[in-house]
Amino acid sequence: MKKIRIAVLCSGGGTNLQALLNAGEAGLIPDGEIVLVVADSPSAHALVRAERQGVKRAVFDKKKLPRAEREEKIAALLKEEGIGLVVLAGFMTVLSASFVRKFPGRIVNIHPALIPSFCGMGMYGLHVHEAVLARGVKVTGATVHYVTEECDGGPIIAQRAVEVREGDTPETLQKRVMREAEWVIFPEAVEQVCKKLKGD
Ligand code: GRF
Repeated sequence: MKKIRIAVLCSGGGTNLQALLNAGEAGLIPDGEIVLVVADSPSAHALVRAERQGVKRAVFDKKKLPRAEREEKIAALLKEEGIGLVVLAGFMTVLSASFVRKFPGRIVNIHPALIPSFCGMGMYGLHVHEAVLARGVKVTGATVHYVTEECDGGPIIAQRAVEVREGDTPETLQKRVMREAEWVIFPEAVEQVCKKLKGD
């Protein structure tokens, strides 16, 4: 059976995209193939990473297109490209219920904390790590989950814990969570979901 065609949606640096591309190249995602990278900003470094790897790119600029129109165009492109799995890798827009309903069980996201802690509206980027340090928890981590209509509320696919260290800043913690958890569990979870989708 054919590989699941994957689109990765990004807004920024794209280190998680890079982890997925590397895993794909290393043969660690045998049931899926990254065929499209979508960004909501033309300056997203993720686009450079995609270009380097020869992956098709598309930009739907947040500053130029209102959300509903942007989502409509993204959904149309995903359908046109025969995308079977939508991967949110640092995509900074919360997708509407109507978008999510178009791809049931076929959208996954990575969150830089152990859901259900430090998640939901407003919990993105460094805010998450700031909140972790402010609360003083000793363990944080990352979560890969299905995207449903409820923000960060979908079924959990994978999690990995990361130690919070004395003297951590939001920045040092963010880096450790990425290195020790996000870049490790994301490719594994994407392969797991592709395998499952192929079997459906
Ligand atoms: C990551 O921390 C991810 O968990 C969150 O946004 C960040 C994106 O980083 N959803 P990058 O663009 O993958 O480097």
